[in-house]
Amino acid sequence: MSVLKATNLVQYIIENRVGDITDCVAIDATMGNGNDTLFLTKLLGSKGKIYSFDIQIQAIDKTKKLLEENNFIETENANLILDSHGNIGSYVKEEIDIAMFNLGYLPGGDHTVVTNGEITLKALKYILSLLKKSGIISLIIYYGHEGGKEEKDSIISFTNSLDSRSYRVLRCDYTNQGNNPPIVLFIEKK
Ligand SMILES: C[S@@+](CC[C@H](N)C(=O)[O-])C[C@H]1O[C@@H](n2cnc3c(N)ncnc32)[C@H](O)[C@@H]1O
Repeated sequence: MSVLKATNLVQYIIENRVGDITDCVAIDATMGNGNDTLFLTKLLGSKGKIYSFDIQIQAIDKTKKLLEENNFIETENANLILDSHGNIGSYVKEEIDIAMFNLGYLPGGDHTVVTNGEITLKALKYILSLLKKSGIISLIIYYGHEGGKEEKDSIISFTNSLDSRSYRVLRCDYTNQGNNPPIVLFIEKK
């Protein structure tokens, strides 16, 4: 196995976790260009349900197109929601197996539309409250943008404070990848 880049590392861990779970509930908290939603759709097939969020219509359009190009129909098991992950409580009430956050701005989009530490934490806390035993949340933290450092610090401080009897937190740093390389966090409910 090679040293995977951040997005592949996250997918590798999640793929292994999902294994043969049936009725898997997964969240893509930051849909963007749709790569994680497509990954989850392929991974879960008909045995899962995906809720994907973004605040930009461009992200919904791109993701819908990507799913169609790969012969998946939206709504079949992926729900593409044009709303903030801060409002996830209005959409997701059931227990959650997997959640993916990929923070920062939409690559190829408006770099001023970025995730926000307070809102990210609100979503993260809600997902934690519904996370199943052995469920996993992944976060790829890009923090080179305006407000990115504050968001990174607040998330790391929060995840560091999680009770080790209930959660396992893993942090992966890429240490030689230039300025502000992504930080990857995994939270597993024990
Ligand atoms: C780094 S991109 C995500 C990349 C994506 N996972 C992919 O596979 O292409 C971050 C995305 O988060 C979105 N975003 C920012 N604030 C958000 C919020 N409060 N709720 C949901 N999405 C948000 C941005 O619009 C942007 O598309």
